[in-house]
This record gives sequence, structure tokens and C-alpha cells, in this order.
Amino acid sequence: MQFAGKAIRTGLLLCLLTPSLARAADPPSLETCLSCHGAGGNSITPLVPSLAGQPVLFLTNQLVYIREGVRQIPAMAGLLDKMSDDELVRLAETLAAMPAQKSDENIGTELVAQGRRLAEKARCGSCHLPTLRGQDHMPRLAAQRSDYTEQAMKEFRDSTRSGADALMSNAAVGLSDADIKALTQYIASLAP
Ligand code: HEC
Ligand code: HEC
Repeated sequence: MQFAGKAIRTGLLLCLLTPSLARAADPPSLETCLSCHGAGGNSITPLVPSLAGQPVLFLTNQLVYIREGVRQIPAMAGLLDKMSDDELVRLAETLAAMPAQKSDENIGTELVAQGRRLAEKARCGSCHLPTLRGQDHMPRLAAQRSDYTEQAMKEFRDSTRSGADALMSNAAVGLSDADIKALTQYIASLAP
């Protein structure tokens, strides 16, 4: 009894004294997201995509896929578990309204022209819009980090991206690593 009483009192004290512990189960704040995805939603971290200015539908879909584990992202595992559909939509709307900025990477000019030709040939703009600013469930590519898009393109091509949309996987079939490099340098060079 004495032990139980002590345990309960200790539990109470913990709740009163460390509200941060009690908050751990709350849905993540926007600040949590931006600690990885960058201030203002523009990433400065390799392999982490910028989210600012992405189409609302694209963000909403991806957030639902991530929450449901259809798209598996180890860094975000469990993060969205407590979030309702409405909360995900509001988060998507907030991120979509943030102004997109160009990637801070050093993008050389030598592959850009080749990348533009490849993008025209593969008709990337027929889905992502000719400006590659994205629409509906198709993401903005323009100005996205090239290290992230390079990895993503290889995952689509090699069918290793969980929850990948088949439309996009088909678009990446037959591209060589060198093609992908050029495409992603071109993409990163565009205005957001
Ligand atoms: C610990 C770091 C981390 C945190 C915190 C984090 N993310 Fe992510 N997120 C990532 C990484 C890494 C990826 C890219 C995964 C991949 O390679 O497919 C990603 C991908 C995404 C994507 C897919 C974007 C795209 O272009 O395909 C969305 C949307 C997203 N995160 C939203 C969020 C939101 C909203 C939050 C806050 C609730 C959040 N993330 C918190 C690391 C993080
Ligand atoms: C038939 C339509 C279509 C075409 C053509 C297309 N895409 Fe996509 N793309 C999509 C869709 C849909 C998605 C979202 C994928 C998902 O939800 O899994 C996507 C996603 C992407 C992503 C992931 C970005 C992110 O933020 O996660 C990249 C990179 C990409 N496309 C590049 C390209 C390039 C480069 C081309 C041209 C070689 C291209 N796409 C052609 C439909 C298309």
C-alpha cells in the first residue's frame, strides 16, 4: 500500500512539475516539423525536402500516407499518429501558404541544359506543370533540394519508395543515374 501510495504521489508530482512530459502525447507542433524541414518550410538539410508552397492536396495526401504507414519515413515514425484528418489538412494549408525559396545548395550550370532537354522529352511538365510548380496531388519540383529529388527519382525508378504513385514510377522508368542527376540539377535551378 505504502509503495502504491508513493507511486501515485510521485506520478502526480511528475504531472504537476513537468508539464512537458504530459504534453509528449500531444500532436506535434509546426515548430517540430520545421526543426527538420527548415525555417519557413525551406530545408537546409540534405535529403530533407522543403515543404513551403507545395500544393495543399499533395501535402495532405502525403501526410495521410505517412500517418497510415503507407509511405514509411523512419525519421517521422509515429509523429502523426495522434493527428486527425482535419489537423493534417490545416497543417498542409499552413505549409502550402508559406513562400517557397530556392535551395541553398550549390547548383552547377553544366548539367542544367541537359536536364531541361530531358525534362522536355519526358514531359515532366505535363503533370508537374511546365514551370514545374506542381498542381493538385503532384508536387512542386522547381527549386526543391537536388539531393532529395535525386534520391526520390531513384526510389521511384527502382520501385523502392513505399506508397509511391504509379504515375510517377512509370515516368522514371528507363532513366539512367546520369539522366536523373541532370534532371535534378535542372529542377533545383528553377525559380520556386
Ligand atoms: C526528424 C526529422 C523530421 C521531422 C521532425 C519531420 N519530418 Fe517530414 N520528412 C523528414 C524526411 C527525412 C523526409 C523525406 C523522406 C524521404 O526520403 O522520402 C520527410 C518528408 C516529409 C513529407 C513528404 C514531402 C515530399 O516532398 O515528398 C511531408 C509532407 C512531411 N515530411 C511533413 C512533415 C510534417 C508536417 C512534420 C511535422 C508534423 C514533419 N514532416 C516532421 C524528416 C522529418
Ligand atoms: C503522369 C504524371 C507525371 C509525370 C509525367 C511525372 N511525374 Fe513526377 N510525380 C507525379 C506524381 C503523381 C507524384 C507524387 C508521387 C506520390 O504521391 O508518390 C510525383 C512526384 C515526383 C517527385 C517527388 C517529389 C517530392 O517532393 O516528393 C519527383 C522528384 C518527381 N515527381 C519528378 C519528376 C520528373 C523529373 C519527371 C519527368 C522525368 C516527372 N516527375 C514526371 C506525376 C508525374
